[in-house]
Amino acid sequence: MSKFYVTTPIYYINGEPHIGSAYPTLAADVLARYHRLKGDEVMFLTGSDEHGAKMAETAEKAGKTPQEFCDEMAAKFMECWDELDISNDDFIRTTSDRHKAGVIKFIEKLKENDAVYEGEYEGLYCQGCEAFLTERDLVNGECPIHRVKPQMISEKNYFFNLKKYLPEVKRMIDVDEIRILPESKKNEVLGLFKQDIGDFSISRSSVKWGIPLPWDESQVAYVWVDALTNYINALGYGSDDITKLEKFWPADVHILGKDILKFHCIYWPAMLIAAGLLTPKNLYVHGFFTVDGQKMGKSLGNVIDPFNLIKEFGADATRYLLLSQFPFGQDGDIKAAQFAIQYNSDLANGIGNFASRVTSMAEKYFEGVVPARDSELKNEVEKIWSEYEDSLEGFQVDQAIEAVKKLNQLGDGYVEKNKPWELAKTDVKRLAGVIYNLLELLRHLGVALWPIMPETSEKILRALGQDDFRQKDFVTLKVWGLLEPESKTNKNEPLFPRIQ
Ligand code: MSP
Repeated sequence: MSKFYVTTPIYYINGEPHIGSAYPTLAADVLARYHRLKGDEVMFLTGSDEHGAKMAETAEKAGKTPQEFCDEMAAKFMECWDELDISNDDFIRTTSDRHKAGVIKFIEKLKENDAVYEGEYEGLYCQGCEAFLTERDLVNGECPIHRVKPQMISEKNYFFNLKKYLPEVKRMIDVDEIRILPESKKNEVLGLFKQDIGDFSISRSSVKWGIPLPWDESQVAYVWVDALTNYINALGYGSDDITKLEKFWPADVHILGKDILKFHCIYWPAMLIAAGLLTPKNLYVHGFFTVDGQKMGKSLGNVIDPFNLIKEFGADATRYLLLSQFPFGQDGDIKAAQFAIQYNSDLANGIGNFASRVTSMAEKYFEGVVPARDSELKNEVEKIWSEYEDSLEGFQVDQAIEAVKKLNQLGDGYVEKNKPWELAKTDVKRLAGVIYNLLELLRHLGVALWPIMPETSEKILRALGQDDFRQKDFVTLKVWGLLEPESKTNKNEPLFPRIQ
């Protein structure tokens, strides 16, 4: 049995969850579920990034202590993931004791291994990014992401000797020992090495809401050093029980947005090497979306609330709609008005209609009893399975959705070509074969849907009498002909009622 460790970024919770935070979480969920379907031992981690000046300031504005505020907001994120049927195995909060213990151990390790020195820092700090920017980063004197002028900060800090580790990190990225995907993002990261990447400070003396350094309590850990270590702390780093760390580390894939590429692809591997730990195997960098052509972000206030989407379309459709807008890994625009149109075309008229049509025909022509086996669609279905698997092995979630759509289209085309309602009058033997093929195709569609729309998948498979599909191994599930002749099927209730 293989193991699969997938993570999302841990989210800043100074605002409510939005579809920007739902997007990588959903993608990671699809990957986690796919690997569970394959029988892998999966660890899927998400969480909340709760320290830093920005959090403290937002809590104060809300009239709360930072901890009270974080508790409320973390609960909202968990509730949102729950409603979206996110199957995370753990949720790590950076204000938890287990996380703090890990951060302290990690920073001590860096110091012990001579990767930390004391220095003076003066620079332009953007609170939105929680990072120092250079003049070169600015557009019209402002941070291009948050559109605010950064503050000039000067303070004593402890620095991480990044320069010492850069050649090794670059080598590993070059030869894909640390694989950065898609290729365009790997090139972007390699391009960063040509610029002057300086050492960075791992502590702040002006920030109070954070984890004090073990050897100098006047400083707290820099929020990015604090945050990145969540990926190992959730596995027990810094505690007495490192069973999970030994089993799951290094991560098979960190999912992250392109805004935090430098931290994950350069800083994090360098710090891991310095601390004597292995580096992540894959980092999948997805693009950013705009909404109706406008940049979306907590700092800008034009967010789409995932709770509203769930209310309007249901959890499964929200999952589908968010993940299928554009290729995972590229930037794209979300047109909110298109959601209802796409819901009707792909789900109500597409998958939902196919499922109810096939099960109704089985009911009408064979009283819901599965006819004798036929294998007319076997080869085509096998081909689509291999596209589906290749997509998910390469973290291409949107491509897996395309493969599912192909199954649906194959089925719709097969119905139109064979016109079962005419066969019912002319050739009942042929009708039986056609209905078997359609029911079996629907079963494959149900299995392939499980990582993407779990509830829909389960409804489809239940109607086909396949309630126990999770007990079967993936190789068996993909084989054509698993649906037993003479077994009983039921009509599918409407899966996606049309929206006006
Ligand atoms: N807390 C840090 C991450 C620390 S990980 C060790 C952070 N948090 S964040 O909440 O601001 O953003 C987290 C991620 O949300 C981004 O990297 C990205 O994956 C996702 N997105 C936020 N807005 C988005 C869009 N508009 N579009 C797509 N993804 C977006 O950075």
